[in-house]
Amino acid sequence: MVGTINLEKKWLLPLIITSAICLFFLAASFNMGLVSTNHSINSLFFFLPSFPHSNQTSSVSVETKVLITPPPAPAPAPARPAIPRFAYLISGSKGDLEKLWRTLLALYHPLNHYVVHLDLESPPDERLDLLNRIEKHHVFTEVGNVFVIKKSNLVTYRGPTMVSNTLHACAILLKRSKEWDWFINLSASDYPLVTQDDLLYTFTDIDRSFNFIDHTSQLGWKRERRGKPIIIDPGLYLTTKSDVFWVEPKRALPTAFKLFTGSAWVVLSHEFVEYVIWGWDNLPRTLLMYYTNFLSTPEGYFHTVACNAPEFANTIVNTDLHYISWDTPPKQHPHILNINDTDKMIESGAAFARKFTQDDPVLDVIDKKLLHKRRGLFTMGGWCIGKPKCSEIGDIYKLKPGPGAQRLQRLLAGLTSTAKSGQNQCI
Ligand SMILES: *[C@@H]1O[C@H](CO)[C@@H](O)[C@H](O)[C@H]1NC(C)=O
Ligand SMILES: *[C@@H]1O[C@H](CO)[C@@H](O)[C@H](O)[C@H]1NC(C)=O
Ligand SMILES: *[C@@H]1O[C@H](CO)[C@@H](O)[C@H](O)[C@H]1NC(C)=O
Repeated sequence: MVGTINLEKKWLLPLIITSAICLFFLAASFNMGLVSTNHSINSLFFFLPSFPHSNQTSSVSVETKVLITPPPAPAPAPARPAIPRFAYLISGSKGDLEKLWRTLLALYHPLNHYVVHLDLESPPDERLDLLNRIEKHHVFTEVGNVFVIKKSNLVTYRGPTMVSNTLHACAILLKRSKEWDWFINLSASDYPLVTQDDLLYTFTDIDRSFNFIDHTSQLGWKRERRGKPIIIDPGLYLTTKSDVFWVEPKRALPTAFKLFTGSAWVVLSHEFVEYVIWGWDNLPRTLLMYYTNFLSTPEGYFHTVACNAPEFANTIVNTDLHYISWDTPPKQHPHILNINDTDKMIESGAAFARKFTQDDPVLDVIDKKLLHKRRGLFTMGGWCIGKPKCSEIGDIYKLKPGPGAQRLQRLLAGLTSTAKSGQNQCI
């Protein structure tokens, strides 16, 4: 009780003085004819909580807080939104070190965040090599935005451990920084077709709530071959890798939610990643458990969660932003891209392409023509200074978009306006 009185006395004097000064100025302004509208009179009482916000719990804390803050500045003219930031997961397996390293250098920008992961199948010295390269790279250590998952996960291709690995990276990225706008899932066999400056520049104007998920509910042959079988992923409980296996009996298609399927490559908004990771709604958790026994989990989990959550269903843009070339009829793996695919790849306007073999000549063409990247160095960007270029960090907010930004803008303009009109979304 005594404490409270003392506290009140402590702020009473400054309040009286401030009020007196304010009243003096108010009177003076009236005399000088400075104050004419109701609005200006209200703004002179900025230290009082305004009515729409008056249901604050403690008026004392509100007043003391507001007394020391300056009056709100007049609203600035609507500026271009701030440059976004991406949070990447780049993952690989045994023998992928060089591919992963090259993809990381091609994707690097100091504004972004990166998690890299070599799974448990890759030998320890390969994983250690990756860690050493990142810890010794002076740009990475200076910016501190590349994180290596040291406790590797066992990941089964087509199994739920693939999704749990992706969720693991999402959780790390959420914990490491609040300052990113989209999560992008890539593998060591992916490669960008635009510079990060192109990507950051183009996405500056994109609604931050958009999720880029290629999806459909037209299950087709997947109804019988994916929706009904039950599989077990030994990666969940064994220490060595082995493939998923099928168990009987089959199950019925779900009636509690609608199944969606699509590309395993996704670009997710920060908000959606929080929704999935934090799980204050039970849907992401229930579906994760359902998908534990689903073949090709990564082709359905995020798609089904987003489309069955009303607050996210209308944020989905139906694309994976990838150029992937399938043989006809489609085989298990996509066609490996080579030098003959260069033109089609560029024309697509896509941000990324897959899949490439290590140091295929087409990657050198992409480096030279699209990324202006030299071997062993970063993709060119406005932040690059030093000799050789990009060996030192200049102004990280300086973007130098090139033709890649125009290609990407063309692709996105159509897709995002379709999404805004609600067409081609969760159907
Ligand atoms: C505060 O009051 C406004 C207007 O009366 C109301 O709409 C809002 O829900 C209230 N907020 C809280 C946190 O009580
Ligand atoms: C994420 O990326 C990996 C590539 O390593 C891919 O295989 C996987 O299916 C992707 N998607 C999801 C949803 O985890
Ligand atoms: C590219 O196309 C040419 C001409 O059709 C062919 O001879 C060559 O083998 C192709 N290259 C690759 C890597 O497939």
